[in-house]
Amino acid sequence: MSAITDFLYSEEMAVAEYAAKEAGSIVMGMFKGKFDVHEKSKNNPVTTADLAANRKIREIIQGRFPEDGWLSEEDKDTTHRLSVSRIWVIDPIDGTKEFIEGVPQFAISIGFVVGGRPTVGVVYNPAEERFYKAAAGQGAYLNDDPIRVGLRRDIDGALLLVSRSEPQRKFQIFVDRCETKPVGSIAFRLAKVAGGDGDATLTFRSIREWDICGGTLIVEEAGGTVVDGSGNPMLFNRPESRFRGVVAANPNLVQGLQALVAKVLAEK
Ligand code: IPD
Ligand code: CA
Ligand code: CA
Repeated sequence: MSAITDFLYSEEMAVAEYAAKEAGSIVMGMFKGKFDVHEKSKNNPVTTADLAANRKIREIIQGRFPEDGWLSEEDKDTTHRLSVSRIWVIDPIDGTKEFIEGVPQFAISIGFVVGGRPTVGVVYNPAEERFYKAAAGQGAYLNDDPIRVGLRRDIDGALLLVSRSEPQRKFQIFVDRCETKPVGSIAFRLAKVAGGDGDATLTFRSIREWDICGGTLIVEEAGGTVVDGSGNPMLFNRPESRFRGVVAANPNLVQGLQALVAKVLAEK
């Protein structure tokens, strides 16, 4: 029996894993195949794969935990979640643009929050068969092997995982000092940083709780730190579910990187 099954929230973990895997099968059944695309708003597409994955995740999680709060990118938000301590934070596909383009850099992201802090997190990239998970106090895992963030101390020369679509001009300060590598889906980038496949990830964008809830716990349980663009720690299930900027790295790098992000954000 793996250590994680002994955890207080082992049932929530098992349900999250099951839901992510079922959603992953649905999404892979449509990847590079037939799906419809709609523009929810300018530059914000949703596909029939996002909606089908969301329905499956909701059916599985709400079927087992009907009293819990719910925040999904593809469901209407209600104030119910603000009146409960336990809440699920879901992005059925993070990296929809990549999914549409046939780029295998997207992920199903599931976070389970208790009292504002993620307690179970799953990020599953089914196209690359990379299943990341973490439970509070229980470490982080990639396909059941423990993972840790890297140990680099210097920003100079660090490998930063960045969005494939974020305007490059804001990254100049980092391009001058670091190596940058575009990878789709912030959820997937967080998980990769947790596994040491990059020293950090950062964005200047306004990021929603569902994009990063699962991935934040995976980074933290792998020994890393995640803060918003102003350096605040990550709290979830807030009325306004947005973070202005996100920085994730090992504890040696995070403060220095966040200071640079704050500088660029202040210039706008
Ligand atoms: C997007 C991804 C992307 C981030 C965008 C998000 P979606 O989510 O998280 O990495 O840069 O801001 O909107 O639309 O693919 O779920
Ligand atoms: Ca997203
Ligand atoms: Ca999404």
